[in-house]
Amino acid sequence: MHLKCRDTEKPYLRSEIHRVEVPDEKVEWTVEWASYKPTVYTDPSTNNKPWADKNIGEATFKWNQIDGKTDRRSHTGQYVIDDYGYPLNPMGRTGLRGRGVLGKWGPNHAADPIVTRIHKGQLQFVAIKRRDNGEWAIPGGMIDPGEAVSETLKREFTEEALEGVTNKDIEEIWKKGSELYRGYVDDPRNTDNAWMETVVVNFHDDGELLECAEFKAGDDAVGVRWINANLPEKLYASHEYFIELLLKHHGISRPKMEYD
Ligand code: BGC
Repeated sequence: MHLKCRDTEKPYLRSEIHRVEVPDEKVEWTVEWASYKPTVYTDPSTNNKPWADKNIGEATFKWNQIDGKTDRRSHTGQYVIDDYGYPLNPMGRTGLRGRGVLGKWGPNHAADPIVTRIHKGQLQFVAIKRRDNGEWAIPGGMIDPGEAVSETLKREFTEEALEGVTNKDIEEIWKKGSELYRGYVDDPRNTDNAWMETVVVNFHDDGELLECAEFKAGDDAVGVRWINANLPEKLYASHEYFIELLLKHHGISRPKMEYD
């Protein structure tokens, strides 16, 4: 955990700012590091966006609580607010302060639906190709203000893999889900004061509901296909880890990936 958001080689997303190098032994906040002064960066294009928070000091925030329509609670438990009023990443230092490209200070909540079936003896899941970086991914997304996780899971899948049009088979699939993960995500967007969290739920077709399903990429997706879960394939962000949890859940082991 906490590797993708300590990369100092490439500049931070959509910027020319580099993270300060944080050695493994200094990640935890409890380790004294008096001279730690990383750059403060909040992507200017996120300012004044309806989905983005105001700056700290310009508004009142209810940390670790539901704050209006924003859920500021973390799946990891209570996070700490520093002496200047900034929430601290529960996994420790990232080498960058500020909100980065994320919309919320503190936790930014996403949800990831893994829709699966057994096809010719293979466990397969529905993946989409992301418009932003061309990577294959689980069709997840950010939880809208006030939205229930169960709604986000359905909405994101319908938008990205069904071009916004639901059908009776997929409605049937949503009735039974198994939660695979709930927590912090190692994500390149994370900073010392803003980070990604997600809930991953597996919806498995144990009949033949999805045998003839037609998928069509929509919204933030430009492609959609079934992927064999036990074949090594590079996936977006921490999604390979979620597929590992999926395999474990179904009692399947897969060969080790070359880049493991
Ligand atoms: C993506 C999710 C992902 C999360 C954390 C969100 O933007 O839509 O699929 O799990 O970020 O990386």
